[in-house]
Amino acid sequence: MLVLGIESSCDETAAAVLKDGHQILSSVVASQVHVHSPFGGVVPELASRQHIQAIVPVVDEALQSASITANGLDGLAVTQGPGLVGSLLVGFSFAKAFAYALKIPWVGINHLDGHINSVFLTPDPPQFPFVALLVSGGHTALYHVTAHTSATMMGQTRDDAAGEAFDKVSKMLGLGYPGGKIISDLAAKGNPEKIHFKRAYLDKNKFDFSFSGLKTGVRRYIDNNPDCLQTEMADIASGFQASVVDVLSHKLFTAAKTMQCRSVALVGGVAANHSLRQRIQKEAARRNYRVHIPPISLCGDNAAMIAATGYHYLKTDHTAELHADVYSRIKAAPISNTRQ
Ligand code: KG4
Ligand code: ZN
Repeated sequence: MLVLGIESSCDETAAAVLKDGHQILSSVVASQVHVHSPFGGVVPELASRQHIQAIVPVVDEALQSASITANGLDGLAVTQGPGLVGSLLVGFSFAKAFAYALKIPWVGINHLDGHINSVFLTPDPPQFPFVALLVSGGHTALYHVTAHTSATMMGQTRDDAAGEAFDKVSKMLGLGYPGGKIISDLAAKGNPEKIHFKRAYLDKNKFDFSFSGLKTGVRRYIDNNPDCLQTEMADIASGFQASVVDVLSHKLFTAAKTMQCRSVALVGGVAANHSLRQRIQKEAARRNYRVHIPPISLCGDNAAMIAATGYHYLKTDHTAELHADVYSRIKAAPISNTRQ
Protein backbone atom coordinates (compact mmCIF):
# COMPACT_ATOMS: atom_id res chain seq x y z
CA MET A 1 0.00 0.00 0.00
CA LEU A 2 1.49 3.36 -1.07
CA VAL A 3 0.56 6.29 1.17
CA LEU A 4 1.39 9.94 0.55
CA GLY A 5 1.95 11.90 3.77
CA ILE A 6 1.63 15.68 4.01
CA GLU A 7 2.71 17.86 6.94
CA SER A 8 2.32 21.65 7.25
CA SER A 9 1.50 22.26 10.93
CA CYS A 10 4.19 24.84 11.64
CA ASP A 11 7.18 26.03 9.61
CA GLU A 12 8.05 22.99 7.54
CA THR A 13 6.27 21.96 4.34
CA ALA A 14 6.79 18.23 4.01
CA ALA A 15 5.64 15.34 1.83
CA ALA A 16 6.64 11.67 1.86
CA VAL A 17 5.71 8.41 0.16
CA LEU A 18 5.70 5.27 2.29
CA LYS A 19 5.23 1.66 1.30
CA ASP A 20 3.25 -0.51 3.73
CA GLY A 21 3.56 2.01 6.53
CA HIS A 22 7.28 1.64 7.19
CA GLN A 23 9.38 1.72 4.02
CA ILE A 24 10.28 5.32 3.15
CA LEU A 25 10.34 5.72 -0.65
CA SER A 26 10.80 9.49 -0.35
CA SER A 27 10.72 12.18 2.32
CA VAL A 28 10.97 15.84 1.37
CA VAL A 29 11.10 18.65 3.94
CA ALA A 30 11.14 22.32 2.87
CA SER A 31 12.22 24.39 5.86
CA GLN A 32 11.16 28.01 6.29
CA VAL A 33 13.82 28.82 8.89
CA HIS A 34 15.42 31.49 6.69
CA VAL A 35 12.07 33.32 6.48
CA HIS A 36 11.40 33.35 10.23
CA SER A 37 14.87 33.66 11.75
CA PRO A 38 15.13 37.47 11.29
CA PHE A 39 12.01 37.70 13.51
CA GLY A 40 13.36 35.35 16.22
CA GLY A 41 10.41 32.96 15.89
CA VAL A 42 7.71 31.67 13.56
CA VAL A 43 5.49 34.40 12.08
CA PRO A 44 2.17 32.63 11.37
CA GLU A 45 1.13 34.80 8.44
CA LEU A 46 4.47 34.30 6.69
CA ALA A 47 4.36 30.58 7.42
CA SER A 48 0.99 30.15 5.65
CA ARG A 49 2.23 32.05 2.61
CA GLN A 50 5.38 29.94 2.44
CA HIS A 51 3.33 26.74 2.63
CA ILE A 52 1.18 27.92 -0.28
CA GLN A 53 4.28 28.41 -2.40
CA ALA A 54 5.93 25.17 -1.37
CA ILE A 55 3.13 22.62 -1.21
CA VAL A 56 2.87 21.71 -4.93
CA PRO A 57 6.64 21.51 -5.62
CA VAL A 58 7.23 19.54 -2.41
CA VAL A 59 4.52 16.96 -3.23
CA ASP A 60 5.82 16.73 -6.82
CA GLU A 61 9.33 16.11 -5.56
CA ALA A 62 8.15 13.43 -3.14
CA LEU A 63 6.32 11.59 -5.94
CA GLN A 64 9.27 11.90 -8.32
CA SER A 65 11.82 10.74 -5.75
CA ALA A 66 9.62 7.75 -5.02
CA SER A 67 9.48 7.07 -8.79
CA ILE A 68 5.70 6.97 -8.87
CA THR A 69 2.92 9.10 -10.29
CA ALA A 70 -0.04 10.32 -8.28
CA ASN A 71 -2.18 7.60 -9.87
CA GLY A 72 -0.06 4.99 -8.12
CA LEU A 73 -1.10 6.19 -4.67
CA ASP A 74 -3.46 4.06 -2.55
CA GLY A 75 -4.16 6.64 0.16
CA LEU A 76 -3.24 9.97 1.65
CA ALA A 77 -2.56 11.09 5.23
CA VAL A 78 -2.32 14.71 6.25
CA THR A 79 -1.69 16.53 9.53
CA GLN A 80 -5.00 17.86 10.88
CA GLY A 81 -3.70 19.40 14.13
CA PRO A 82 -2.49 20.61 16.54
CA GLY A 83 -0.58 23.51 15.02
CA LEU A 84 -0.98 26.91 13.40
CA VAL A 85 -4.40 26.96 11.77
CA GLY A 86 -3.30 29.00 8.76
CA SER A 87 -0.42 26.60 8.14
CA LEU A 88 -2.46 23.45 8.71
CA LEU A 89 -5.16 24.64 6.32
CA VAL A 90 -2.74 24.76 3.40
CA GLY A 91 -1.69 21.11 3.65
CA PHE A 92 -5.15 19.96 4.70
CA SER A 93 -7.04 21.71 1.89
CA PHE A 94 -4.48 20.56 -0.66
CA ALA A 95 -4.79 16.97 0.62
CA LYS A 96 -8.58 17.01 0.45
CA ALA A 97 -8.62 18.26 -3.12
CA PHE A 98 -5.82 15.90 -4.20
CA ALA A 99 -7.48 12.82 -2.68
CA TYR A 100 -10.86 13.83 -4.11
CA ALA A 101 -9.43 14.25 -7.59
CA LEU A 102 -7.53 10.96 -7.38
CA LYS A 103 -10.53 9.17 -5.81
CA ILE A 104 -8.37 7.71 -3.05
CA PRO A 105 -9.14 7.45 0.70
CA TRP A 106 -7.55 10.02 2.98
CA VAL A 107 -7.25 10.61 6.70
CA GLY A 108 -6.41 13.50 9.04
CA ILE A 109 -3.60 12.75 11.50
CA ASN A 110 -2.75 14.14 14.91
CA HIS A 111 0.77 15.59 14.63
CA LEU A 112 1.71 14.13 18.03
CA ASP A 113 0.63 10.64 16.94
CA GLY A 114 2.91 11.22 13.98
CA HIS A 115 5.91 11.95 16.20
CA ILE A 116 5.19 8.87 18.32
CA ASN A 117 4.94 6.67 15.23
CA SER A 118 8.27 7.96 13.94
CA VAL A 119 9.96 5.21 16.00
CA PHE A 120 8.41 2.64 13.67
CA LEU A 121 10.51 4.00 10.84
CA THR A 122 13.66 2.57 12.43
CA PRO A 123 15.09 -0.87 11.61
CA ASP A 124 14.36 -2.04 15.16
CA PRO A 125 10.86 -0.74 16.04
CA PRO A 126 9.44 -1.16 19.57
CA GLN A 127 6.92 -3.75 20.72
CA PHE A 128 3.73 -2.50 22.41
CA PRO A 129 3.29 -1.30 25.06
CA PHE A 130 6.05 1.26 25.55
CA VAL A 131 6.48 4.67 27.14
CA ALA A 132 7.27 7.56 24.80
CA LEU A 133 8.74 10.91 25.73
CA LEU A 134 7.67 13.49 23.14
CA VAL A 135 9.81 16.63 23.25
CA SER A 136 9.25 19.31 20.64
CA GLY A 137 8.92 23.05 20.22
CA GLY A 138 5.23 23.00 21.14
CA HIS A 139 4.88 19.93 23.40
CA THR A 140 6.62 18.01 26.15
CA ALA A 141 4.69 14.96 27.30
CA LEU A 142 4.90 11.32 28.35
CA TYR A 143 2.63 8.71 26.75
CA HIS A 144 1.80 5.11 27.47
CA VAL A 145 1.55 3.75 23.93
CA THR A 146 -0.50 0.59 23.41
CA ALA A 147 -1.06 0.63 19.62
CA HIS A 148 -0.17 2.71 16.54
CA THR A 149 -3.40 4.61 17.02
CA SER A 150 -3.73 4.54 20.78
CA ALA A 151 -1.71 6.32 23.44
CA THR A 152 -2.62 7.72 26.84
CA MET A 153 -0.97 10.88 28.06
CA MET A 154 0.64 10.38 31.48
CA GLY A 155 1.82 13.96 32.00
CA GLN A 156 2.84 17.06 30.16
CA THR A 157 4.45 20.46 30.60
CA ARG A 158 2.54 23.01 32.63
CA ASP A 159 4.24 25.92 30.91
CA ASP A 160 7.00 25.95 28.29
CA ALA A 161 7.84 23.00 26.08
CA ALA A 162 11.45 21.78 26.24
CA GLY A 163 12.20 22.98 22.70
CA GLU A 164 10.64 26.34 23.48
CA ALA A 165 13.02 26.67 26.47
CA PHE A 166 16.01 26.00 24.18
CA ASP A 167 14.70 28.63 21.76
CA LYS A 168 14.19 31.22 24.53
CA VAL A 169 17.59 30.66 26.14
CA SER A 170 19.21 31.08 22.73
CA LYS A 171 17.39 34.38 22.37
CA MET A 172 18.51 35.51 25.87
CA LEU A 173 22.10 34.78 24.94
CA GLY A 174 21.67 36.86 21.79
CA LEU A 175 22.05 33.81 19.53
CA GLY A 176 19.80 32.89 16.62
CA TYR A 177 16.57 30.99 15.99
CA PRO A 178 15.74 28.13 16.22
CA GLY A 179 17.78 27.76 19.38
CA GLY A 180 17.87 23.98 19.86
CA LYS A 181 20.80 23.18 17.63
CA ILE A 182 22.63 26.42 18.50
CA ILE A 183 22.42 25.79 22.26
CA SER A 184 23.25 22.13 21.88
CA ASP A 185 26.40 22.89 19.81
CA LEU A 186 27.45 25.60 22.27
CA ALA A 187 26.73 23.37 25.28
CA ALA A 188 29.15 20.77 23.92
CA LYS A 189 31.97 23.31 24.44
CA GLY A 190 30.99 24.17 28.03
CA ASN A 191 31.16 22.58 31.46
CA PRO A 192 27.72 21.27 32.53
CA GLU A 193 28.70 21.40 36.22
CA LYS A 194 30.06 24.93 36.41
CA ILE A 195 26.70 26.69 36.73
CA HIS A 196 23.93 24.78 38.44
CA PHE A 197 20.37 25.51 37.39
CA LYS A 198 17.40 24.09 39.31
CA ARG A 199 15.67 20.89 38.22
CA ALA A 200 11.86 21.05 38.37
CA TYR A 201 10.75 17.53 39.26
CA LEU A 202 7.26 18.55 40.48
CA ASP A 203 6.94 15.77 43.04
CA LYS A 204 3.17 15.87 43.39
CA ASN A 205 2.34 15.40 39.73
CA LYS A 206 5.36 13.38 38.95
CA PHE A 207 4.82 13.04 35.20
CA ASP A 208 4.24 16.75 34.57
CA PHE A 209 7.05 19.07 33.54
CA SER A 210 7.86 22.74 34.04
CA PHE A 211 10.60 24.67 32.28
CA SER A 212 9.65 28.26 32.95
CA GLY A 213 11.51 28.37 36.30
CA LEU A 214 14.67 27.17 34.59
CA LYS A 215 14.24 29.84 31.94
CA THR A 216 13.89 32.47 34.67
CA GLY A 217 16.97 31.03 36.41
CA VAL A 218 19.03 31.55 33.26
CA ARG A 219 17.62 35.08 32.86
CA ARG A 220 18.52 35.90 36.48
CA TYR A 221 22.04 34.51 36.09
CA ILE A 222 22.62 36.69 33.03
CA ASP A 223 21.23 39.78 34.82
CA ASN A 224 23.35 39.18 37.92
CA ASN A 225 26.51 38.51 35.95
CA PRO A 226 26.53 41.17 33.24
CA ASP A 227 29.96 40.17 31.94
CA CYS A 228 29.09 36.52 31.65
CA LEU A 229 28.02 36.74 28.01
CA GLN A 230 31.61 37.31 26.94
CA THR A 231 33.15 34.51 28.95
CA GLU A 232 30.59 32.01 30.09
CA MET A 233 28.11 31.50 27.27
CA ALA A 234 29.10 27.86 26.72
CA ASP A 235 28.88 27.08 30.46
CA ILE A 236 25.43 28.68 30.68
CA ALA A 237 24.23 26.66 27.67
CA SER A 238 25.77 23.51 29.12
CA GLY A 239 24.30 24.05 32.61
CA PHE A 240 20.87 24.78 31.13
CA GLN A 241 20.97 21.71 28.89
CA ALA A 242 22.09 19.49 31.78
CA SER A 243 19.05 20.59 33.79
CA VAL A 244 16.65 19.77 30.92
CA VAL A 245 18.31 16.42 30.21
CA ASP A 246 18.31 15.37 33.91
CA VAL A 247 14.58 16.03 34.29
CA LEU A 248 13.55 14.44 30.98
CA SER A 249 15.61 11.32 31.54
CA HIS A 250 14.51 10.88 35.15
CA LYS A 251 10.81 11.21 34.29
CA LEU A 252 10.95 8.92 31.27
CA PHE A 253 12.41 6.04 33.28
CA THR A 254 10.13 6.66 36.28
CA ALA A 255 7.14 6.53 33.91
CA ALA A 256 8.38 3.32 32.28
CA LYS A 257 8.90 1.73 35.69
CA THR A 258 5.42 2.78 36.82
CA MET A 259 3.81 1.32 33.71
CA GLN A 260 6.02 -1.78 33.90
CA CYS A 261 7.20 -1.23 30.34
CA ARG A 262 10.65 -2.45 29.37
CA SER A 263 10.77 -0.28 26.22
CA VAL A 264 11.09 3.48 26.00
CA ALA A 265 11.03 5.86 23.03
CA LEU A 266 12.30 9.39 22.56
CA VAL A 267 10.63 11.44 19.79
CA GLY A 268 10.13 15.04 18.57
CA GLY A 269 12.45 17.86 17.52
CA VAL A 270 14.39 17.92 20.81
CA ALA A 271 15.14 14.20 20.40
CA ALA A 272 17.80 15.43 17.94
CA ASN A 273 19.77 16.68 20.96
CA HIS A 274 22.97 14.64 21.30
CA SER A 275 23.30 14.98 25.03
CA LEU A 276 19.70 13.85 25.57
CA ARG A 277 20.05 10.90 23.16
CA GLN A 278 23.26 9.81 24.88
CA ARG A 279 21.81 10.07 28.38
CA ILE A 280 18.67 8.11 27.50
CA GLN A 281 20.75 5.44 25.79
CA LYS A 282 23.16 5.22 28.71
CA GLU A 283 20.39 5.06 31.32
CA ALA A 284 18.51 2.46 29.28
CA ALA A 285 21.61 0.26 29.13
CA ARG A 286 22.27 0.72 32.85
CA ARG A 287 18.68 -0.10 33.85
CA ASN A 288 18.20 -2.79 31.22
CA TYR A 289 15.51 -1.10 29.08
CA ARG A 290 15.18 -1.27 25.31
CA VAL A 291 15.43 2.21 23.83
CA HIS A 292 14.06 3.49 20.50
CA ILE A 293 15.08 6.85 19.06
CA PRO A 294 14.49 7.81 15.41
CA PRO A 295 17.39 9.07 13.28
CA ILE A 296 17.87 12.83 13.51
CA SER A 297 16.23 13.34 10.09
CA LEU A 298 12.96 11.97 11.52
CA CYS A 299 13.01 13.82 14.87
CA GLY A 300 11.97 17.22 13.51
CA ASP A 301 8.71 17.71 11.63
CA ASN A 302 8.43 15.48 8.56
CA ALA A 303 5.72 13.78 6.51
CA ALA A 304 7.07 10.22 6.72
CA MET A 305 5.78 10.00 10.31
CA ILE A 306 2.36 11.26 9.15
CA ALA A 307 2.17 8.66 6.36
CA ALA A 308 3.35 5.96 8.81
CA THR A 309 0.49 6.80 11.18
CA GLY A 310 -2.05 7.25 8.39
CA TYR A 311 -1.29 3.77 7.04
CA HIS A 312 -2.73 2.20 10.21
CA TYR A 313 -5.97 4.19 9.94
CA LEU A 314 -6.38 3.64 6.21
CA LYS A 315 -5.68 -0.08 6.56
CA THR A 316 -8.67 -0.36 8.89
CA ASP A 317 -10.86 1.90 6.70
CA HIS A 318 -10.74 4.90 9.03
CA THR A 319 -11.08 7.74 6.56
CA ALA A 320 -12.03 11.40 6.78
CA GLU A 321 -15.03 13.22 5.32
CA LEU A 322 -14.74 16.17 2.97
CA HIS A 323 -16.20 18.54 5.59
CA ALA A 324 -13.43 17.71 8.13
CA ASP A 325 -11.61 20.73 9.54
CA VAL A 326 -8.21 21.38 11.11
CA TYR A 327 -7.75 22.00 14.87
CA SER A 328 -5.19 24.16 16.63
CA ARG A 329 -5.10 22.47 20.03
CA ILE A 330 -4.86 18.89 21.25
CA LYS A 331 -8.34 18.89 22.80
CA ALA A 332 -10.18 18.97 19.53
CA ALA A 333 -8.49 15.87 18.12
CA PRO A 334 -11.28 13.86 16.50
CA ILE A 335 -9.69 10.44 16.28
CA SER A 336 -6.99 10.29 18.91
CA ASN A 337 -9.18 11.42 21.76
CA THR A 338 -6.90 9.55 24.16
CA ARG A 339 -4.52 12.51 23.77
CA GLN A 340 -6.71 14.81 25.85
O1 KG4 B 1 9.14 18.60 16.49
P1 KG4 B 1 9.63 19.92 15.99
O2 KG4 B 1 10.42 19.94 14.72
O3 KG4 B 1 8.45 20.92 15.82
C1 KG4 B 1 7.37 20.95 16.69
O4 KG4 B 1 6.45 20.12 16.53
O5 KG4 B 1 7.44 21.80 17.63
O6 KG4 B 1 10.51 20.56 17.18
C2 KG4 B 1 11.15 21.79 17.03
C3 KG4 B 1 11.90 22.10 18.32
C4 KG4 B 1 12.45 23.54 18.34
O7 KG4 B 1 12.10 24.15 19.57
C5 KG4 B 1 13.96 23.32 18.25
O8 KG4 B 1 14.71 24.33 18.89
C6 KG4 B 1 14.12 21.99 18.94
O9 KG4 B 1 13.02 21.23 18.49
N1 KG4 B 1 15.38 21.32 18.57
C7 KG4 B 1 16.35 21.00 19.46
C8 KG4 B 1 17.42 20.46 18.70
N2 KG4 B 1 17.06 20.46 17.40
C9 KG4 B 1 15.80 21.00 17.33
N3 KG4 B 1 16.40 21.15 20.80
C10 KG4 B 1 17.53 20.74 21.41
N4 KG4 B 1 18.60 20.22 20.76
C11 KG4 B 1 18.59 20.05 19.43
N5 KG4 B 1 19.65 19.53 18.79
ZN1 ZN C 1 6.45 18.45 15.65
